[in-house]
Amino acid sequence: MIDFHSHILPGIDDGSKNVEMSIQMLKAMRKQNINTVVASSHFYATQRSPQRFLYRREQAWERLSAELPDDAPEIILGAEVLYFPGISHMEELPQLCMEGTNILLLEMPFDSWSEYYIREVKELARSGDYTIIMAHIERYYFKQPVSVWDEFLDLGILMQSNADFFLPFRSRRKALKLLEEGRIHLLGTDAHNMSSRPPRMNEAVAMIKKHLGPEPLREIDRLGETLLWEGGL
Ligand SMILES: [Fe+2]
Repeated sequence: MIDFHSHILPGIDDGSKNVEMSIQMLKAMRKQNINTVVASSHFYATQRSPQRFLYRREQAWERLSAELPDDAPEIILGAEVLYFPGISHMEELPQLCMEGTNILLLEMPFDSWSEYYIREVKELARSGDYTIIMAHIERYYFKQPVSVWDEFLDLGILMQSNADFFLPFRSRRKALKLLEEGRIHLLGTDAHNMSSRPPRMNEAVAMIKKHLGPEPLREIDRLGETLLWEGGL
């Protein structure tokens, strides 16, 4: 499986604190059948320039890659880019895509979205310059009218949900329904550590299999592989 959303790089954001923790997370991921993981450290334009972010990410990667066990999942460097008004004009945006691709993992603000935000995201999708994956949609899905999601889906924006969305009784049904309706396309652990926010992909996979059978998982795998290794959609 591909984990499209994680905070495994050490010491760069609120995720893994050090190399040792990163390795524990990667080992747990490997046990959960994750063979590829996108390291999507937070990028906040208000806190750091893209250049500074990329420099720090490179340093974190060097520290981690020196200690990686042989059987660690493959790691793809990326970023979880928080939307800000004007993002489409940021010259360095392509450099924040998953390495070797035009895939942008876009996090939206948790509060209400202005018309401008929605329009800018749609323009970004329409430009054809990016494949947009919207990060952990469960955080905002129910705060927006369905029409917004319909428009995003029509423009080919892909939706990622966290594995954790499928676990608690209160959200499980919603998660399964969105997956069944084709409104969730990709999964991520959004793992930050091994205590409060560990990788829980195996539990989500078991839940999906139990309720919907293996086919949705096959589709998720197929799409992920197409995106990362077959040149995109
Ligand atoms: Fe995240």
